Amino acid sequence: MGPDAIINEVKNSNLRGRGGAGFSTGMKWSFVPKQSAKPKYVLCNGDESEPGTCKDRLIFEHDPHSVIEGVMIAAIAVGSNTGYIYIRGEYRYLSVIMQKAIADAYAKGFLGKNIFGSGVDFDVYWHGGAGAYEVGEESALMESLEGKRGVPRIRPPFPAVVGLWGGPTVINNAETLASVPHILLMGGQKYAEIGTPKNGGTRLFCLSGNVEKPGVYELPMGYNLKKMIYDVAGGISKGRNLKAVVPGGSSVPVLLPNEIDVAADFDSMMKAGTMLGSGGVIAIDDHTCMVKFALRTIKFYQHESCGWCIPCREGTDWLKKTLTRFHAGGGIKKDIDNMYYLAENMLGRTFCPLGDAAAMPVMGFVKKFREEFEAHLEGRPCPYEDHGADGEIPVLAQLPVLTR
Ligand SMILES: Cc1cc2nc3c(=O)[nH]c(=O)nc-3n(C[C@H](O)[C@H](O)[C@H](O)COP(=O)(O)O)c2cc1C
Ligand code: SF4
Repeated sequence: MGPDAIINEVKNSNLRGRGGAGFSTGMKWSFVPKQSAKPKYVLCNGDESEPGTCKDRLIFEHDPHSVIEGVMIAAIAVGSNTGYIYIRGEYRYLSVIMQKAIADAYAKGFLGKNIFGSGVDFDVYWHGGAGAYEVGEESALMESLEGKRGVPRIRPPFPAVVGLWGGPTVINNAETLASVPHILLMGGQKYAEIGTPKNGGTRLFCLSGNVEKPGVYELPMGYNLKKMIYDVAGGISKGRNLKAVVPGGSSVPVLLPNEIDVAADFDSMMKAGTMLGSGGVIAIDDHTCMVKFALRTIKFYQHESCGWCIPCREGTDWLKKTLTRFHAGGGIKKDIDNMYYLAENMLGRTFCPLGDAAAMPVMGFVKKFREEFEAHLEGRPCPYEDHGADGEIPVLAQLPVLTR
């Protein structure tokens, strides 16, 4: 198949990026200019750092060649001779598997010069990150790959036109790329039919939290979220009740139990007021303190903020400090609105979407669990002591109050 035929097949498949944003893969590939003075690149994003997400690592571990094949097919589609597979720093153990898989592909003649006499040259390199959530963001990943500090680039220009080392670049999530060989084998139309309209194929859902059978499950796109939790993951563990679901990795707005009878595809989730994101479904039981959950979430984003822009660097820090004091019993009523207001003001005002990723969950928790926040006011101890209290509480409660 030539480049146009491949791109058409991938477009027909309705494959949408599994990294989080859900952009059409075929469309993305078609944006890469046919002629380029600079070399073109294909990047596989295996940085997988969104809390609740653990699918790419299973692909690398159990089916590394599907990723290599996906990278090769993308390369033929856009006319590239070099691919990089960038893997999260903490997944160092996977390097052995990936390096062997790449070496095997070279040994069999699938990679290298003049592949099977076709006149096509293609090299693939594995590259390990240094352990930063932010380098999962596509432009920060390119900075990191070029050996620089992993901070994002301003856009436009977009990577399809100016990417790695200034060359046109396709960057896709590992699961997205691993889906491509199957699409070419079964045909785009057939693949599209597995899912829902405009949401083709299957998806790896990472079911975690308080469920009986946590794990990574391959299900059709648009599988019902409630069924996923109760039928696939065996329901809520320890005979408890469901309190909330974070449906797409920790950065998306939370859903209440009466909101989860919904198709898990990009468009239906958007209509439900949240996002499908990275496919990390976290079920939260009724013994969990939502203030503590909000605090743990913001601690992650504060720690991972690259510090490049002020709303994210300062905003995540203020939210962390306020939530720490609040959960420790030092909260005042005004904090609740202030936290929402602060998060709302980060939204859309940061250099890259990490700021949104930090703001959206906090807004969701405050909006949907205000009563739980109120239950922590006036020095009252966390009502969920077994999940809540830690030894530092008296000191943390004295942190200064954030005022507007
Ligand atoms: C802070 C941040 C972290 C991200 N982390 C990842 C990641 O670990 N893996 C990933 O595939 N995409 C991640 N993304 C999304 C990428 O920027 C990009 O959209 C994606 O790799 C495109 O591939 P896809 O179209 O196949 O989804 C992240 C985005 C942001 C803003
Ligand atoms: S939003 Fe956060 S992670 Fe993104 S550039 Fe700004 S400081 Fe860095």
